[in-house]
Amino acid sequence: MTMRVAVAASGGGSNLEALLRALGPAAPARVVLVLSDRAGAGALARAGRHRVPSALLAHPTDPQEWLAALERHDVDLLVLAGYLKLVPVEVVEHYRGRIINIHPALLPTFGGQGMYGRRVHQAVLASGTRESGASVHLVDEAYDRGPVLAQARVPVLPGDDPDTLAARVLEAEHRLLPAVVLAAAAAGRPVPLPDIVETHP
Ligand code: GRF
Repeated sequence: MTMRVAVAASGGGSNLEALLRALGPAAPARVVLVLSDRAGAGALARAGRHRVPSALLAHPTDPQEWLAALERHDVDLLVLAGYLKLVPVEVVEHYRGRIINIHPALLPTFGGQGMYGRRVHQAVLASGTRESGASVHLVDEAYDRGPVLAQARVPVLPGDDPDTLAARVLEAEHRLLPAVVLAAAAAGRPVPLPDIVETHP
């Protein structure tokens, strides 16, 4: 049975694009709905180009709006891919264990409220760590807190700035997220995966 996937995104949607490309017609998972809280989100335009139904959340804090959309499209798995607000608690409760989020650092470090975008990579660089990466975790009621399912590790290189590091991590995200969704489709629910370790030439 095909796993029916909804993707929520506030921004450009490059992770959505990676999923759409990875989940071809023969794949065991399919993106059936894209949700956004921002009218100008690139993710909505990408959904349109791929002829995937999409919806702009008029009231992103209203659980009924989420639940109605997810139920209408018979969604099995909700993927947060650059969705910047908290998902309403009632939605988390209803879909517990079936909502995942991708974060551009190696959780549990460099996550939590306010840790998004460039700020994450600035904090990683300021810490002096030699490694960063991306994490996919199950979503609970707090930002970036649920159990980690999979991580892709990339080196922090001498001379990195937040932009070069962000670009390296984003590439890793584009491999990690489809791998996690395909594994979830095979297992029938999101499952832990071994780390992906990316070395740099
Ligand atoms: C990614 O870095 C993701 O980890 C974070 O927000 C960014 C979204 O990028 N949560 P995009 O919209 O998928 O291009």
